[in-house]
Amino acid sequence: MLRLTDRLNRIQPSPSSMAGQRVRELRAAGRDVIGLTAGEPDFETPLHIREAAAAAMAAGKTRYTDVGGTAELREAVARKFRRENGLDYATSEIIVGTGAKQVIFNAILCTVQQGDEVIVPAPYWVSYPDITLFAGGVPVFVACQPQTGFKLTPEDLERAISPRSRWLILNSPNNPSGAAYTREELAALAAVLERHPHVWVMTDDIYEHLTYDNATFFTLAQVAPSLKDRTLTINGVSKAYAMTGWRIGYAGGPTALVKAMVKLQSQSTSGANAIAQAAAVAALDGPQDFIAANREVFQARRDAVVSALRKIDGIDCQPPAGAFYAFASCEGLISARTPDGKVIQSSDDWVAWLLESQNLAVLQGSAYGVDSHFRLSFATSMAQLSEGARRIEAAAAALIR
Ligand SMILES: Cc1ncc(COP(=O)(O)O)c(C=O)c1O
Repeated sequence: MLRLTDRLNRIQPSPSSMAGQRVRELRAAGRDVIGLTAGEPDFETPLHIREAAAAAMAAGKTRYTDVGGTAELREAVARKFRRENGLDYATSEIIVGTGAKQVIFNAILCTVQQGDEVIVPAPYWVSYPDITLFAGGVPVFVACQPQTGFKLTPEDLERAISPRSRWLILNSPNNPSGAAYTREELAALAAVLERHPHVWVMTDDIYEHLTYDNATFFTLAQVAPSLKDRTLTINGVSKAYAMTGWRIGYAGGPTALVKAMVKLQSQSTSGANAIAQAAAVAALDGPQDFIAANREVFQARRDAVVSALRKIDGIDCQPPAGAFYAFASCEGLISARTPDGKVIQSSDDWVAWLLESQNLAVLQGSAYGVDSHFRLSFATSMAQLSEGARRIEAAAAALIR
């Protein structure tokens, strides 16, 4: 019999990847399923980036690169941090990995051991707890409230810190809630962290360019330079440049940490794909105007979907400040019954009912640590979104309350 490790048994498959796969299977079986589960832009990677990849291939950039990323890409990342975030990182303080996910994985595997705590504000991106568990660490969840816009408060942060805390993971704009921290809010969290020098901070800034209503993005090391020597500033090209499949993420942080991560990477992937790294240089150094154009498209979709959801009896939704997810409450439907008598007791039941009765796939809030909500991606066409909202309304209306 195949024997799997305890470390593997501690983790679950990623619920968003599983949901995407389920949609594909149901479609293949002939069901007219709408999937609003995708965590990726529906736009094509801009042409100049694809052309840069083709040119890199033609020029024979087909070999192993430096484990931590090509010098060209690490320089482009350093320019990006300086230009967009006012952060000075030397190339020795930068690592490139196979997606931001691998960068996070590396950082946690290098620094978290048995019993070490990682503070994870909820709602959270599904992978933070599982990567922590894989490393033998303990995710310490801090429930953020809808009343604070699902943001971590300084008081809650203070309460969550213990002598075993290794990291705080801050994700702004947040997947799934869309919460985006202001400069003042980050400064208030920084003031708490100043008092606890043993706590390091991982900022996951992957949705940096997807903020709405002209909000300005800030990252912690920029707002609180005194924390820079214990902050890992994580970002990537997946979301802003519609490059999810290219698998390029990066981070800036203290040299000792970056060196450790490169050491681990040298024994896993040997570094990110060479062609994709050349494409990422073109993304970071090239024209940026399409980012604003995409943002406008996303904002119009956000407005449409939020207003449609708010009209549905039993559903509530606050407009997200960033990212491309609506994180809606289904609390008003809890305890309702389906026509064949099944009681909706959780977001899991609601999401299952949507799929069963309306062929609509969304994600249960329980996967993100908030069971009263569900997540719907608006990185899809207006037509799909309005059909999705129609199906949600029909599924809610069919419940007996
Ligand atoms: C919050 C968050 N961080 C990181 C990632 C991973 O990004 P990448 O494609 O760079 O691995 C995602 C992808 O969904 C995400 O939502």
